[in-house]
Amino acid sequence: MTTLKFDDWDTSASPENNAASVGSTAQSASPPVDKKTTDVDAVVAAIDPEQKRVVNGQADINQLAPFKYPWAWSFFLNANRNHWTPLEISMAQDVHDYQHKLTPAECHVFENVLAYLTTSDILAMRNIGLAVMEKMSAPELQIYQARQVYEEALHTWTYQHCIETLGIDQREIYNRYRVVPAIHGKIALANRRLHGVLQSGKPLTDRDALHEFAMAYLFFAAVFEGSWFYNGFSPIFALQRRGLMKGAAEQLQYIMRDEVLHCAFGIRVVRQLLEEENLTFDPHALREMWDEAEAAEMAYAGYILRDPILGYNKQLHAEQFRFIANRRARQVGLTEPFPGAENVLPWLDEQANLRKEKNFFETRVTEYQTGGSLVWE
Ligand SMILES: [Fe+2]
Ligand SMILES: [Fe+2]
Repeated sequence: MTTLKFDDWDTSASPENNAASVGSTAQSASPPVDKKTTDVDAVVAAIDPEQKRVVNGQADINQLAPFKYPWAWSFFLNANRNHWTPLEISMAQDVHDYQHKLTPAECHVFENVLAYLTTSDILAMRNIGLAVMEKMSAPELQIYQARQVYEEALHTWTYQHCIETLGIDQREIYNRYRVVPAIHGKIALANRRLHGVLQSGKPLTDRDALHEFAMAYLFFAAVFEGSWFYNGFSPIFALQRRGLMKGAAEQLQYIMRDEVLHCAFGIRVVRQLLEEENLTFDPHALREMWDEAEAAEMAYAGYILRDPILGYNKQLHAEQFRFIANRRARQVGLTEPFPGAENVLPWLDEQANLRKEKNFFETRVTEYQTGGSLVWE
């Protein structure tokens, strides 16, 4: 294979030309250049994947492979098997359900869940795209996150499609998180926990900054996406189980599949970061994170389910949050924050179809091919 020299593509940048440009004294004082042993050859040597790191790596970020994190590339390939657009799913029956079948309490649940999700997905897109991705120093990590950014935008399109189809007032629904304290509480908590990293160009050069970044990414992956989002679809799935809002619920099932991957990837990155940087989480900080997340979720459940709907209530929602939070903690390798929490909504995992979720990690997700309606077992 031919070795690429600088002067193959830009003669003005060659060492010889640069030496000539600084004067004849330097040029005449230098020994003759042996073209086979110049440090140009060292510069163009292939990367050593072991030099890659999650953050602050020194390996050339423009070279995808050899991989240090082949699992990240697998995430990217798997993510590309879950293609759909919201236009592929019929919402015709949903329009009828929304206008004629939902009770006021069910309408209240549906609209407020939608309001929460729309705001959250834009926040997720901005966090990954503007803050997290730039701090990654291995391209295979960034590649999956680029896909994730697209998927968050696709989720926003999905909610917008539902809002347009159902004739919901856009000005009101997108602004609702600023009006309803219980929704605002979750978004404000997320903004506060992500604020430290949601800034471009912030270096991770000391231990405090690395800890802060790891805690923020943990919150994002394990709480925001892994618990709040995962459990956040449940109230609408409860309607779907009674034959209501089935189109919207199917849209959310596609989104949930993406979110399962987002959470799993984020947790994997956090574990890798802890290992590489020899970091450990402060147990008190973890306790505070889980308690804050639970309190915000309880307030949210109390608002959206102030009047319970058939088959679903705020106690079920809160307990399922605790059960899912325990699962996320175990996946990170942490102590369960809510010991004894019960799986009160066993059908939720059926909605996400955990057997397929496991298949994701085994890179055999043939069920997720492009288009068509989902068939659930
Ligand atoms: Fe999303
Ligand atoms: Fe996500």
